[in-house]
Amino acid sequence: MRGVIFRGLEELVIEALGMQAWDELLEAYAPTGRVYVSPTSYPDEELFALAQGVAAKLGKPLTEVLAIFGQSLFGFLAEKHKGIAAKFESFEELVLSIDSVIHMEVKKLYDEPNLPSINVVKEDDKTLILEYCSKRKLCFCAEGLLHGAAQHYSRKLSIEHPQCMHNGAEHCTLILHLD
Ligand code: HEM
Repeated sequence: MRGVIFRGLEELVIEALGMQAWDELLEAYAPTGRVYVSPTSYPDEELFALAQGVAAKLGKPLTEVLAIFGQSLFGFLAEKHKGIAAKFESFEELVLSIDSVIHMEVKKLYDEPNLPSINVVKEDDKTLILEYCSKRKLCFCAEGLLHGAAQHYSRKLSIEHPQCMHNGAEHCTLILHLD
């Protein structure tokens, strides 16, 4: 996983728990002297271990922590890559463009990024169906990112997750209901 994602987690942890908590997490779950640089790749396991450490500190399940992380990560990524996020006038437009525009731009910026495959179709005016597939199975983080995007456009969003890779499905299905 790219350093930029770790930096997003670092920002969230420092805001919520303070600098000392982040230093403790690094000491416990990262190699000595680790500094995350945005364009560099680090092992996925390191991110999972850090997120698990955050979950332990907060006494919350990992899935909940990944969702909270995803939500704050959207703002962090949109701020870091202003040009990309500003292309879209609505939540629907942005979500329909995750694979074809947003992550496509990410491929130009980062050398061989590890990206999920995300397919979205519009069911009706208030409903989008999103299929998520990735060997990293970060669907809860994807849910959080979607909530972050809804917040960005001041939309009220609820998500159903009827089919999940964590339960053996080939891909996750997320049904996005907008108000
Ligand atoms: C609601 C919108 C978005 C969703 C649902 C989404 C979903 C995801 C997920 C779930 C991952 C983790 C990797 C995986 O699952 O295999 C990821 C990675 C990433 N995304 Fe997005 N994303 C969104 C918007 C954005 C935006 C706005 C940017 C920045 C312009 C961005 C840039 C990235 C980057 C840099 C990575 C890491 C690539 C790597 O580690 O090599 N994403 N995205």
